[in-house]
Amino acid sequence: GSSWIHENLRAGSELDITDPRNHFELEPANRYTFIAGGIGITPIKAMIESLPQRREWELHYFGRSRTTMAFLDELLERHPDKITVWARDELGNKDARLTSLVEDPSAQVYCCGPESLMSALAIATPAERLHLERFVAVDRASSSVATPVNVTCRKSKVSFIVPEDQTILDALEEHGVPIVGSCRKGVCGTCEVRVKEGTPTHLDSVMSDEEKDELGVMYPCVSRASTPTLVLDV
Ligand code: FES
Repeated sequence: GSSWIHENLRAGSELDITDPRNHFELEPANRYTFIAGGIGITPIKAMIESLPQRREWELHYFGRSRTTMAFLDELLERHPDKITVWARDELGNKDARLTSLVEDPSAQVYCCGPESLMSALAIATPAERLHLERFVAVDRASSSVATPVNVTCRKSKVSFIVPEDQTILDALEEHGVPIVGSCRKGVCGTCEVRVKEGTPTHLDSVMSDEEKDELGVMYPCVSRASTPTLVLDV
């Protein structure tokens, strides 16, 4: 997004814009466990600042060393009793046992950080209590074989076959369907589209497959279909 803006926009350019989208929203809960790794502290810090004063929470903040951990002094000064610092240069061979950090069944767990941390947390935490914000995509495509899919766009009134070597997003754009893609890697959520018929094969990292199925959406920059046909609400 930023690169495109720098390369293409000039003073006076006109843009259509939409509301911001948030796939990492803080949902109401009585208790929160926040886990941040490196610069993943940024959304977590904003969440902490938005909490009502008496809400129960704790933060586990992972980083290379205290000197490189953003906002650490500020956070410790404001909330000294709620923060555990896991700085690698202080831990030596000692490792954080993630399972013990997330074992409170009443706590919703919010995590943003490197993929290794989030993957480990996804194993240690029940999906219904876990909320992840990813910066890079999980490689899910290599585990599935792409096949052609017949796509019908209900609002645009066009149908076409998407060959196995083309993404559904590319095909939608090629056929003039109004849809916007940004990361094109299944991370940002920009290309979200509602599915009216057919079963998507989710290959993105935006949210859990259960959440997408519940909302009836898919991310066509990476995802495919397990049915021969998809009807999309675009
Ligand atoms: S363009 Fe980012 S998820 Fe599809």
